Amino acid sequence: MEVVIGGTQLRLLQGDITRERVDTIVNSANSGLMGGGGVDGAIHRAGGPAILEACKRIVRERGRLPAGQAVITTGGLLPARHVVHTVGPVWHGGRSGEADTLSSAYRESLSVAVREGLRTVAFPSISTGAYGYPLDLAARVALREVQSFLEGGEGGTPLEEVRFVLFDRRTYEAYADALSAVAEGKGLAGLGPPPKP
Ligand code: APR
Repeated sequence: MEVVIGGTQLRLLQGDITRERVDTIVNSANSGLMGGGGVDGAIHRAGGPAILEACKRIVRERGRLPAGQAVITTGGLLPARHVVHTVGPVWHGGRSGEADTLSSAYRESLSVAVREGLRTVAFPSISTGAYGYPLDLAARVALREVQSFLEGGEGGTPLEEVRFVLFDRRTYEAYADALSAVAEGKGLAGLGPPPKP
């Protein structure tokens, strides 16, 4: 499923983000940047020790990464050149600023990519695994924030493509539903029926 927003292609895919050949993938990390389970574990396993070494250097120099912020490292052995590590919110019921923190994680990740002159970015579904953010709510926050970022710059951004690489069908369908809702709200061009991935 794909749409064009501000001259940037926004695509939803079902798959394993560690296989994406893009300028950068985004990792849903924790503040310590020491790796973990889920997509964090998959990225460190596939990317090799260079990623963890770069993360350790960042934490030594700048301290732990606050939720909603983002930093960039090498992609190590991954097909992606870089990894942007961000920390999403842990879900505590929705009254502790979780939506704002989740929006910030997407926005800061895209800002880092643009600042580094990157053109293609792939996101996982941030916070909807171990951090427990309800999938349908997180998908709408994610897509609204990415749409806002891509429409924000005068004449769009330099980004060519933003992908969401969703690990399972349930997550893919939630993002497809959210993208339809966001697109209908703004009349975004090019929104075809969600093809079966
Ligand atoms: N490719 C794409 N998506 C993946 C992959 C993968 N290889 N592996 C897991 N996912 C998906 C999960 O299915 C979920 O939809 O990533 C989404 C986020 O789930 P988590 O990885 O559990 O991340 P999150 O909920 O943000 O929790 C982050 O978990 O692993 C720890 O160190 C991490 O403390 C941090 C916390």
